[in-house]
Amino acid sequence: MSKTTAPTRPAHDAPETLTRPELEALQLERLQWTVRHAYENVPLYRRTFDEAGVAPADIRSLADVVRLPFTTKADLRETYPFGMFAVPQAEVRRIHASSGTTGRPTVVGYTAGDLDRWADLVARSLRAAGVRAGMRVHNAYGYGLFTGGLGAHAGIERLGATVIPMSGGQTARQVQLIRDFEPDAIMCTPSYLLTIADAIEEAGIDPRSTSLKVGILGAEPWTNRLRAEIERRLGIDAVDIYGLSEVMGPGVASESALTKDGPHVWEDHFLPETIHGDTGAPVADGEVGELVFTSLTKEAFPVIRYRTRDLTRLLPGTAYPAMRRIEKITGRNDDMIILRGVNLFPTQIEELVLGIETLTPHFILELRREGRLDCMAVRIERHPDLERSVCEAAAEVLQQRIKTHIGTSVDVIVAEPGELPRSEGKYKRVYDYR
Ligand code: DLL
Repeated sequence: MSKTTAPTRPAHDAPETLTRPELEALQLERLQWTVRHAYENVPLYRRTFDEAGVAPADIRSLADVVRLPFTTKADLRETYPFGMFAVPQAEVRRIHASSGTTGRPTVVGYTAGDLDRWADLVARSLRAAGVRAGMRVHNAYGYGLFTGGLGAHAGIERLGATVIPMSGGQTARQVQLIRDFEPDAIMCTPSYLLTIADAIEEAGIDPRSTSLKVGILGAEPWTNRLRAEIERRLGIDAVDIYGLSEVMGPGVASESALTKDGPHVWEDHFLPETIHGDTGAPVADGEVGELVFTSLTKEAFPVIRYRTRDLTRLLPGTAYPAMRRIEKITGRNDDMIILRGVNLFPTQIEELVLGIETLTPHFILELRREGRLDCMAVRIERHPDLERSVCEAAAEVLQQRIKTHIGTSVDVIVAEPGELPRSEGKYKRVYDYR
């Protein structure tokens, strides 16, 4: 076995039977391997470890992870494109990249072993969601450099289910294939599933009458209220899947359909921490902080204490007792809107919108500067079956609730049905014109 090969993995299909002490022993062995692998093969890690005065031999317990330096997106940009790969290029079987809102994309790579473990973890995530071998899964995550499409694809096949590799977009075609191929499950972003639900309805079909029984939804923040709305409209179980390309892609953490209480982190492959965003100090389990991951079995692209910018809490395991859960992620540091001194996340608005029955879930947020003041408008579509006056009354209620619950005054503008852009993947909710 070469030193770039990750320690052998256990059977992927019995994570629920692991005990916490067994898990921690596995994590420590894998952490020690990862730290050494990163130090020996990635110049940036060697430099940052040396600067922090920590060597691989200093990692004697899981608690020692806090001695390691953080890794950020800036490190990935600095080493663009392949500077953080830890294996020779000939061992890299696949590359993915995230577009990145500013500047260079983030590039990640996988060995054959990495792809194998990734497929196992997505298969495990699907099983947690209630998908079984022999079922049909409609995959509407985008294929290509985005990790969603191909990542989900391999996991569906690994589980022994049938994949329908639809990718994102072409919504009318999605509806036709859902009708004709009768899939049991769908994988896409929650916002795109709303677009599909509207299109099903427009085709004269009751969205509750399709063959779909479960949606494995992620890649963007969504609230439990939106879960309830999706479940009601489509008559399915809506289950949360989490991941990020830097750490692997979809399937870093995933929710059980039995408990629907936040994604379980697959801790045999990823060591989670939460930290204070400003100081980097550890935050106790149960308290909100920035989520940080260290990979435990990645060969081509090991990550050490990678700062996700996602905000959540670590909670004890339920369906998988040894593995901790993350509370449903409802915001990223980057998504936070600061409006006249008040901090707010788009998901807080989603929560309030969905609390009013006569409003639709189709809304965007527009930020402008008027004089010296920052202003925000919520532009929300009218329900096609309701009079404009009914929606305007509901808009006023929303405005009032935002004032009461979030503490800031905003404009709420009623838009016509179909006026706002529809999601085809990750939904762009905020338009900042300041
Ligand atoms: O979105 C990977 C993925 C694909 C996850 C398909 C789930 C399903 P990135 O494009 O690198 O990777 O974006 C990662 O998306 O840091 C979060 O901010 C957000 N995100 C992903 N899943 C969830 C989720 C993929 N379930 C970034 N809930 C992450 C909330 C999520 N946010």
